[in-house]
Amino acid sequence: MGSGVYKNLIRNRDILHERTGSYLEVTKVAVRDLGRQRDVKVAPEKLTTDWRELVNDPEIDVIVELIGGDDEAFNLISAALEARKAVVTGNKAVLAKHGKRLIELSEEKNTPLYCEAAVAGGIPIIKAVKEALVGNRIDSIYGIINGTSNYILTRMTKAGINFAEALQEARDKGFAEADPSLDINGWDAGHKAIILGWLSYGRWLKPEEVSVTGIEEISAEDVAFADSLGYEIKLLGVIRQGQGDERIEVRVAPSLIPRTHILSSVDGVFNAVAVHGNVVGETLFYGSGAGQDATSSAVISDLADAAENLINEVGCTGFVPHGDYGAALPIEETLSQYYLRLSVVDEPGVLARIANITGENGIGILSVIQPEPKEPSKHIPLVLLLHDAAYGKIVDALGEILALEAVGAEHTLLRVETLEH
Ligand code: HSE
Repeated sequence: MGSGVYKNLIRNRDILHERTGSYLEVTKVAVRDLGRQRDVKVAPEKLTTDWRELVNDPEIDVIVELIGGDDEAFNLISAALEARKAVVTGNKAVLAKHGKRLIELSEEKNTPLYCEAAVAGGIPIIKAVKEALVGNRIDSIYGIINGTSNYILTRMTKAGINFAEALQEARDKGFAEADPSLDINGWDAGHKAIILGWLSYGRWLKPEEVSVTGIEEISAEDVAFADSLGYEIKLLGVIRQGQGDERIEVRVAPSLIPRTHILSSVDGVFNAVAVHGNVVGETLFYGSGAGQDATSSAVISDLADAAENLINEVGCTGFVPHGDYGAALPIEETLSQYYLRLSVVDEPGVLARIANITGENGIGILSVIQPEPKEPSKHIPLVLLLHDAAYGKIVDALGEILALEAVGAEHTLLRVETLEH
């Protein structure tokens, strides 16, 4: 990532000078391994393995943190802010874990901390929410904010391949990281959703207050059923606050979204974020959410802001986080429709017993599919689409359904998001 920023700062040096009135010079670069081959040539005297040298250098005005991880990045960013050096970071993990403390420190030191690259790579969503939409109450944000999982789900949908094959393909094409666990377990998107929750509602939810489910369990069968019902499965981040309820909902899960909604056509490694504001209405931001060039575009935008603020001798400017009120909406109380695939014995009365349980729990059935079995089999799939219900209710009803003798243990429960605000 650092190489991308370095390369593009040189590539657009003159444009940036024209626009900002300053030359952005990279004076020192801290790396983990001095001997590693890089895509860009950096003079050896600029390289060091100790980031403290940069933080302690009085000639350096801005520190760009692109090391990833959380604890060392926290130490680096804190030390830079303590030394009153503006910080640009693309690190969602450190913000999700330590964002509250870091923003407090930035304000205490009147030294800005910029993080455009931390959410959705090259899409300028931080600026959009923080600045362009500052006049709005944010009703909802729905985001496809992890490119790797979106690539995998797109390939499962379009090519009919299974999860393992699609993951291998993502690796072969260089989209998936060597360790793609945070992408596929949902937490890369979870960290980004926490940042969007803070930007929209002023509160840093703790990771344990956020519900995150990844895409590892999505089967080719569920993708095909969703398709036949007119939906696509996407790893979706939901950030919203109900009318008259200050509690904040931040969650990430593979969800069925209707093919009639524009987000369903966001394919491959692309990201998209739909923001609904009470003044502007619906907005949609689309683009590359990962990759060296897209992410450097966001880092350089922050560097340009940092340069302008340094020239004008201003510290933290613009948006003021609006308090720390509200609380997390418990996952049991979050509402959506649901897709439930069960494995049932093909005998009279089974559907009626299941419908009885959903009915007793106050959950309506929207539609049912039970494909005619192609060959005799003990269990057959039964797919239900269920009306809006609190997650806790669905989990209770599911427990009762799975306890029925005619229902096998294998099942899938996914949310169906209508993407209303
Ligand atoms: N690995 C992430 C993605 C990009 O696949 O979208 C960095 O957050």
